[in-house]
Amino acid sequence: MFTRTRRLRGSKVLREMVKNVTINLNELVYPIFIEEGENIKEEIKSMPGQYRYSLDRLYDELKELKELGIKSLLIFGIPKKKDEKGSQAYYDKGIVQEGVRLIKKNFPEFLVITDVCMCEYTSHGHCGILCGNDVENDKTLEYIAKIALSHVKAGADIVAPSDMMDGRVLAIRKRLDENGFVNIPIMAYSVKYASSFYGPFRDAADSAPSFGDRKTYQMDFRNSKDFYREVEADIEEGADFIMVKPALAYLDIVKSISEIKLPIVAYNVSAEYSMVKAAAMNGWINEQGIVMETMYAMKRAGVDIIITYHAKDIATWLKNKEISL
Ligand code: PBG
Repeated sequence: MFTRTRRLRGSKVLREMVKNVTINLNELVYPIFIEEGENIKEEIKSMPGQYRYSLDRLYDELKELKELGIKSLLIFGIPKKKDEKGSQAYYDKGIVQEGVRLIKKNFPEFLVITDVCMCEYTSHGHCGILCGNDVENDKTLEYIAKIALSHVKAGADIVAPSDMMDGRVLAIRKRLDENGFVNIPIMAYSVKYASSFYGPFRDAADSAPSFGDRKTYQMDFRNSKDFYREVEADIEEGADFIMVKPALAYLDIVKSISEIKLPIVAYNVSAEYSMVKAAAMNGWINEQGIVMETMYAMKRAGVDIIITYHAKDIATWLKNKEISL
């Protein structure tokens, strides 16, 4: 006797019946880059199909996303002026704050998540306040909390700190609570590695560090233990979502934390997207096949929510009933 696993794969109907992993738009978050200025809709060279929008050009895109059934957005801002202290990041009339107001005014049904960090706003491109050549942790916390509060005041539904300072979740939670925003969730970029997979994003957001790297604050992928401490710390400090980033090369981490009681988010980052697009544009791969297979891989590992630049394509395929698996 041997095991006939093929029995349950005998027809499409049967395969559809026994499949136990699903993907739908409720669980996908689409990142958007907004930029100060006018009449800008500029394709990001290293991320074909993704654009930087000025606010006057954003409306049409939002309308399209809504029609496609996209429900959640992650907002990144690119300011005109950068300085040592990233002051445009917490300016009440900053690009993210104004963008969030515009989205909420015209399309209140979008769930708006804002990335809370300083690297797009500092002249040196690091994620916080410098002391010598390193980012000073505790001083940066004050700024991160201030940025988060300004996003929430503008109407953000969720704040997502990506700076990787120790204690930022607690600092944000305290600041939001003191200001009456006890019900605004924090989506913590908890497990975030210093990764080459962010390369295209740094072109997109103009946020590459002008010297050095981010290895004193982002995690070392050669260490297979410290993610436990990051996750524990963020849960203790009051995070509402735990994020793992990048996604595909780190599904072992997702699997290891899949028992936690909070939703797990994976960020399918820029280079993960760009590599697929590049190969697809060369006709080397079946783009939809590759994209869907990787989405299911994330879900199977234990991911609840996926942040992905592919969300718009997936929504289009779903709408046109073009997905064949
Ligand atoms: C900001 C931030 C980065 C990403 C998300 N938020 C860049 C970085 O940490 O250098 C990367 C996203 C992507 O690659 O798609 N700190």
